[in-house]
Amino acid sequence: MALQLLRTTDEAAQFVDRLRRENKRLALVPTMGSLHQGHLALVREGRRRADVTAVSIFVNPTQFGPREDFSGYPRNLQADLAQCEAAEAHAVFAPELTEIYPAGYQTFVEVTELSKGLCGGRRPGHFRGVATVVAKLLALFRPQVAIFGEKDFQQLQVIRQLNRDLNLGARIVGVPTVREPDGLAMSSRNAYLSPEERRRARSLFTGLRQAQELARDGRTEASELVAVVRSALAQAEVREDYVEVVDAETLERLETVRGTRPARILVAAFVGNTRLIDNAPLNPEGRAREDGHAQAEE
Ligand code: PAJ
Repeated sequence: MALQLLRTTDEAAQFVDRLRRENKRLALVPTMGSLHQGHLALVREGRRRADVTAVSIFVNPTQFGPREDFSGYPRNLQADLAQCEAAEAHAVFAPELTEIYPAGYQTFVEVTELSKGLCGGRRPGHFRGVATVVAKLLALFRPQVAIFGEKDFQQLQVIRQLNRDLNLGARIVGVPTVREPDGLAMSSRNAYLSPEERRRARSLFTGLRQAQELARDGRTEASELVAVVRSALAQAEVREDYVEVVDAETLERLETVRGTRPARILVAAFVGNTRLIDNAPLNPEGRAREDGHAQAEE
């Protein structure tokens, strides 16, 4: 099946109706484009879990703050389509802005508690925009499975919650972070880094790895784990936005890592003007779970 390009919500609805008539299971992979190997790992996961995999490509204005990079965000639909075709996705939904937010649009989705801290605290309104566009995509496509990256860990938990709370009926699947050979988490925003910043950016990963090693050695004090990440950032002259140890499901801040409570360490930092995020599990329980249940493999 050749890659099908859907440009309007009507075309998307027709595509979904046909899949329903044919009894085919759909996996949806929402993205903002500028696709890299991290996104393509989600496409591969979709292909494993469903008959048909659709990728959405939409730079969503409502999740960017007024001083953030909406207008400068990298866009390259032709290259993205080629990547989707090579990854054997079945369809790409690439709507214009007015297809998603027509004149007079006024409905927004807020996941109140999970959106409060971490990136939500530093980027007011960000998760309202994410939750709104993802709720719209899930309502439009009604996929059996929707695939997201653990790289954006708070986002993943926000989306699990909205899928449950709004009865959207998808199985939300989290995929482990895909990294560059030196460990830097792949991100469309890595394109902003100068060669020198690119070298310093590795400090997020080195700090997280040191924290993981300490946790594996039985160190349970969150403050100690946070401190090693901070010192890795400081050494590379990378400015911390936050470093926190949290419960991997509720995202509540933890003082200590206990064996039975899933724990994760999350970092956000500025390398020059570029804001990067990354995170890592601190115990086996802290690996992402499916729909909030125990690591159910199908
Ligand atoms: P975007 O940043 O394009 O990311 C799309 C999806 O790819 C997200 O689920 C993200 O977690 C995942 N992803 C990004 N880098 C990854 C990596 N290195 N390894 C694994 N997965 C990775 O996240 C968004 O877009 C938007 O907020 C969106 C959910 C599409 C809503 O607009």
